[in-house]
Amino acid sequence: MTGSFIIAIDGPAAAGKGTLSRRIAEQYGFHHLDTGLTYRATAKALIDAGLPLDDETVAEKMALEVELAGLDRDILSRHEIGEAASKIAVMPAVRRALVEAQRRFSEKLPGTVLDGRDIGTVVCPAAPVKLYVTASPEVRATRRYDEIISRGGEADFEAIFEDVKRRDDRDMNRADSPMKPAVDAHLLDTSEMSIEAAFQAAKSFIDAALSRNA
Ligand code: DC
Repeated sequence: MTGSFIIAIDGPAAAGKGTLSRRIAEQYGFHHLDTGLTYRATAKALIDAGLPLDDETVAEKMALEVELAGLDRDILSRHEIGEAASKIAVMPAVRRALVEAQRRFSEKLPGTVLDGRDIGTVVCPAAPVKLYVTASPEVRATRRYDEIISRGGEADFEAIFEDVKRRDDRDMNRADSPMKPAVDAHLLDTSEMSIEAAFQAAKSFIDAALSRNA
């Protein structure tokens, strides 16, 4: 096998793709990039600098300065940052800048796992393994609700459910790189599947592709 072995994982928020991606990266000793964090870091840089979220030139400049090595999931996970990220993610110049950095990352040896919305379709269309991880909006909203409650927080299920649907709508209907499964992606619906079962299913697709590439 020459070059990096790339595993592309796409799907909506709270479908379980983050947990699954980290687990796969650990299993195979591959580098992992949560590409959502690159959009979040760009949005946070704009918010911190007091800059508008609707100026594409300014947002592109911030995107070009994002350091992949410094992405901190805890700091970037705030809800308002996710909302802002979804707004700037519609801008083609922002996407171009971040996709370029993501493609460079994908070449790391011996292999990489990238998760996001457009990895199998746009960022790494030649990836030998593509997974599209999804779950119903109700299940995803319930997971998010349970997560907040288990951390001792307060949450309003209806508000979270509306938010999940609004975010899906924005991600699926933007003109540039809308979220959708690649034609050759394996679909994993985790609505009624444990993370362990999803991992085992993913592992069998990956092992088969690795032996084809050997
Ligand atoms: O997965 P996340 O919630 O961290 O992503 C935040 C936003 O970033 C999401 O609403 C859409 C955008 N995004 C994207 O457009 N393309 C990606 N590859 C990853 C995220």
